[in-house]
Amino acid sequence: MRHHTTFRQLEIFEAIARLGSFTRAAGELYLTQPTISMQMKKLADIVGVPLIEQVGKKVQLTDAGRDLAQASREVFGVMDRFTMAVAERQGLKKGRLALMAVSTASYFAPRLLGEFAHQYPGIEVSLKVTNREQLLEGLADRLADLYILGQPPDDVAVEARPFMCNPLVVLAAPGHPLAGAEDIPLARLAEEPWLLREPGSGTRAAVERLFAEEGIELRPRMALGSNEAIKQAILAGLGIAVMSSHSLALNPPGQFAVLKARGFPICRQWYAVYPAGRELSVVARAFLDFLLDQERSQGACPDTP
Ligand code: PGA
Repeated sequence: MRHHTTFRQLEIFEAIARLGSFTRAAGELYLTQPTISMQMKKLADIVGVPLIEQVGKKVQLTDAGRDLAQASREVFGVMDRFTMAVAERQGLKKGRLALMAVSTASYFAPRLLGEFAHQYPGIEVSLKVTNREQLLEGLADRLADLYILGQPPDDVAVEARPFMCNPLVVLAAPGHPLAGAEDIPLARLAEEPWLLREPGSGTRAAVERLFAEEGIELRPRMALGSNEAIKQAILAGLGIAVMSSHSLALNPPGQFAVLKARGFPICRQWYAVYPAGRELSVVARAFLDFLLDQERSQGACPDTP
C-alpha cells in the first residue's frame, strides 16, 4: 500500500479522525469537501477495507481506520522530528509542540507555556485540556508530544518526570463550622455533604482512594464537571470538596476556608509524561527541560514521599 498512498491522503485522514468531521477537516486543511471525499475514497480503495463509517452526521472510524490513524500520527511524528532536527542544525528554533493537560493543570500550564513561547517565539504551541481519563485515551492514541497530569498511569509504559508539587486541600465556605477546627478526623469530614469532580477526574480518584484506604464511606452530594463549578457550589453552601491548591491561584486569599483535616494536604506532584521508548522532538525535549527547571528553582516538595 505504501507505493500508492500519498502523504496528503494520510494527512486528510488523520484530520478527519482527530476532528470527527469531514467539514472541519476540510476547513483545517483549506480543501473543499469533494476533494476530501474523493481522497478518502481513493485511500479506502488502496487499503482495501472501509476506514470510515458515516453514522448519521457523525463520522466513526472502523478498527482498520483507528489503526491507520495511529500509524499516520506516528509517521507525522517522525517527520516532525526530522524537520525539527534539520531546523535545529540550522540554528533555528521552530516547530510544533502539542500538549495535553488535565483540567486542574490549566491553572498553571498556560502561564508556563507563555513563558516558554516567549523564549522560543518560532514555536507553534497547542494545549488541549481534558480530565485524566480523556488524557489517558489521548496518550494511548499518541495525540500529543507531552502530557501533564497528577499521577502517572500504572498500566501503560511511560516516562514520567515530576516537576512541581501539587498539594490537594479540603475547601469549605469561609463561615463553615469546621473552618477553625484543628486535626479534623476523616470520619468527621465524611459526615459533611461532599462535592466531587466528575468520574474520570484524577482529583476525584485521589479523594476516593484516601477514604477507601481508611475504610470510610464517602457520600457524594453532587458531582460537578469542573473545579470552577465546585468552587461556586462551595460558596453557595452546598458542601465541601478536595481540590489542588493550584486551583486557588486566582482567588483572593480568605475566599475559601482550607480545613485542617487529618491526612491533608494530600501531597501529590505534577508529572510530565510521554510514552516509554518514544524519542522526543527537539521542541518537546526543550519544553520538558523547561518544566524540570521549574522544579529546580522551587526545590523539592516538602511532604512528598
Ligand atoms: P483532574 O486531574 O483535573 O482530572 O482532576 C488532576 C490530577 O490528576 O491531579
